[in-house]
Amino acid sequence: MRKVGIVAVGSYVPAEKLTNSDLEKMVDTTDEWITSRTGIKERRIAPAGVHASDLAVKAAADCLARTPDRPQLLIAATSSAEKACPYQASIIAQSLNLTNLAAFDLNAACSGLIYALAVGRSLMQTEGYDHALITAGEKLSRFVDYKDRASCILFGDAGAALMLSAEEQPEHELLTVELGADPTGADLVVMGGPEDEFYFRQDGKSVFRFAVEKMGSLIDLLKTRVGCDDDRYFIIPHQANSRILEAVARNKEIPPERFISNISKYGNTSSASIGLALKEAWDENRFTKGDYLFLIGFGGGLSWAAAAVRW
Ligand code: UT7
Repeated sequence: MRKVGIVAVGSYVPAEKLTNSDLEKMVDTTDEWITSRTGIKERRIAPAGVHASDLAVKAAADCLARTPDRPQLLIAATSSAEKACPYQASIIAQSLNLTNLAAFDLNAACSGLIYALAVGRSLMQTEGYDHALITAGEKLSRFVDYKDRASCILFGDAGAALMLSAEEQPEHELLTVELGADPTGADLVVMGGPEDEFYFRQDGKSVFRFAVEKMGSLIDLLKTRVGCDDDRYFIIPHQANSRILEAVARNKEIPPERFISNISKYGNTSSASIGLALKEAWDENRFTKGDYLFLIGFGGGLSWAAAAVRW
């Protein structure tokens, strides 16, 4: 089987910040409540006329600037594409003059980026693509009711992109992936539907419990699969709530510094969040050769997806 590695990561966030004190003026909430219940201090909001695909394009351009590799396959993870057609992957390819490639969108809510990594890796191994660009562009703010204090505090807009390349000896090898979904929880996270189902709503407590349990079991699974029996690993989780990470750290007796988190600055950016956190940690040189990275997504569906990378 061909080996596949992550050769570059890019990201993009809009300039405009929506802070907790801004939200205090919009709904009945406080900085104290939001910070203590979620860990979020601010998020970035794309202005009217800037769409999810624009965020994906900017992140993809950032990624392409970091590698000479050019994709024969492009998978755009998104749950907030502005149009059904042209779909997001075709808009990205058109904007960046990427030709002679296969391109499609993939929606697995907040697990989308890791699902796309898994599909990309598989197609590279079975169909012979040498390079695959995986993007996540999300403008969740378009589904947010800024009169609903329970949800408007959570989300931000962002884009992320990763280049996968087939290599003899990858520097950052994608070792294993695990995908899943529990359709009995399909109605626990809803957005983008007709009329009364347009704005985001969720059963926060149920999703919280699911996330803590699933992330814990996925960490155990990945550790076993890759044979990691020491503490040379980092968890790069979907950034939904810092209390989820604290609960997993407590349950599994994992030191909190093993979790990579930037939720305080960006909030929940759905499928973009793991890419955004990976990019930031990579730029900060957080990882050393031989470390394992466990990328773990969870969310609407209910879906989950995990990937182990050896640095
Ligand atoms: O990415 C998709 C996956 N989603 C997730 O992973 C989300 C997982 N769930 C969560 O992160 C948490 O459940 C939330 C952050 C969404 C909510 O936190 P919670 O601790 O579950 O709060 P709650 O919804 O149970 O609300 C507790 C109280 C309620 O008041 P009462 O009924 O106890 O009087 C709410 O009305 O807090 C109130 N509340 C607020 N108060 C101030 C809810 N939102 C706010 C707010 N400011 N923004």
